[in-house]
Amino acid sequence: MGYNVGLLGLGTVGTGTAKIMLDSVGRHPLLEEISIVRVGVRNPDKAREVEFETGVLTDDLASIVTDPNIDIIVELIGGVDQALDYILTAIDHGKHVVTANKAVISRHGDEIFTAANAKGVYVLLEAAVAGGIPVLTPLKQALGVNRINRVTGIINGTTNYILTRMKNEGANFDDVLADAQRLGYAEADPTADVDGLDAADKITILASLAFGGRINLKDVYCEGIRKIAAADIAYAEKLGFTIKLLAIAQGRRPASGAMPDEIELKVHPTLLPKHHPLATVDGVNNAVLVEADPLGEVMFYGPGAGEGATASAVVSDIVSIVATLKSGTSTNDNGNPLLRCSHEHYTRVASMDQSVSRFYARILTQDRPSVIGQIGLAFGEHGVSLESVVQIDVHDRGAEIVVITHKVSEGEFQAALQALNALEAVVSIPSVLRVW
Ligand code: NDP
Ligand code: HSE
Repeated sequence: MGYNVGLLGLGTVGTGTAKIMLDSVGRHPLLEEISIVRVGVRNPDKAREVEFETGVLTDDLASIVTDPNIDIIVELIGGVDQALDYILTAIDHGKHVVTANKAVISRHGDEIFTAANAKGVYVLLEAAVAGGIPVLTPLKQALGVNRINRVTGIINGTTNYILTRMKNEGANFDDVLADAQRLGYAEADPTADVDGLDAADKITILASLAFGGRINLKDVYCEGIRKIAAADIAYAEKLGFTIKLLAIAQGRRPASGAMPDEIELKVHPTLLPKHHPLATVDGVNNAVLVEADPLGEVMFYGPGAGEGATASAVVSDIVSIVATLKSGTSTNDNGNPLLRCSHEHYTRVASMDQSVSRFYARILTQDRPSVIGQIGLAFGEHGVSLESVVQIDVHDRGAEIVVITHKVSEGEFQAALQALNALEAVVSIPSVLRVW
């Protein structure tokens, strides 16, 4: 018996998915039992890289998700509302779903998985996090017997590509972003990449699997890369760091080893020491570092976006569903527990004020005696201890001083910054970044 797929979207990822499925030679033999029978797009008359028989391409996506002949709907149109509508309709019609859409899962995962569990169908989303890198399946399966303490990722290819080219070539932000869009890495609205929102979507999904609870996306602290200046990249290099947009999920477990009551969830640019395993992850590559007990540290690394890489993850999900269906596991008995979503409660996210880290601050000051002393005093009065203070440059606007603090809570550091801003000698503080 063959299995029929309805593909929604034939853009970057949809095209890559079709290319793999239409050329099964030398790949998993199950691919030969799976056919793309209908493809939904916005404009069926547009020129395409892959060809289908007449009648397969349509702009009537509603008819695909309700088609009784289709077993699996693959949602690759992106966006939230329309995608949600198609996914829920497909589930309601008893279809399994594969999606690469982190935005819809991070916002509506509760509705989607509740509906899927009630209907006895699978919703798989390996491609939604870290593109082609298998990381969600390992978290659910091979790593599932570990207690996970922290997941740290470079999980947005576009921003990693931009930061890498800014560092290596001194390239201009807007030019590199245009290249990332041309290469198909960026979201339809690249604000989602640049402002850290895409990484926030993805870390909620990773955290939900690592810590076994649903996450409210609004609780994720999120800062993007817009404010990073060429000066910060250069100073970081001089000081032995590289700047990466990190997404971090961590929780302290009780002595019993049970899941943490509360976790930290944050996305922000970070100065990483050059010896850190994530520091050399460059270009469109992504990496996810999982700290697990008893396994220790394991890092998943590879291409985080792009046509072929992302399609590889999409098609692997399709094959997993087909393999499970063929094995005869009845979805009415809750199906394969390694594929279905097994948690329904929400995990509490800690307030950012309590988060502790080192900080980097670039401070423009008047160029006169005792300024460094005043800065040290203002930090000290707020309990912030300094690891290093360097006067990097003096120019016509004054002196440029870079400080790196010891570990301190966000709350204390922000109070110290306010005191610093009130000093007459401080002209401005253009950059504040966290340091690993
Ligand atoms: P594209 O913009 O390249 O393609 C979107 C496709 O969906 C197009 O074929 C478009 O039709 C169709 N489409 C969009 N909206 C509608 C609609 N309302 N009705 C009918 N068809 C529609 O997107 P990507 O392939 O880049 O991304 C798809 C999904 O994969 C997104 O959720 C994205 O976040 C995710 N993703 C993308 C990655 C990447 O590297 N690009 C990596 C990982 C995940 P038409 O062709 O006619 O315009
Ligand atoms: N825009 C996303 C990125 C695509 O750059 O990582 C992969 O999810």
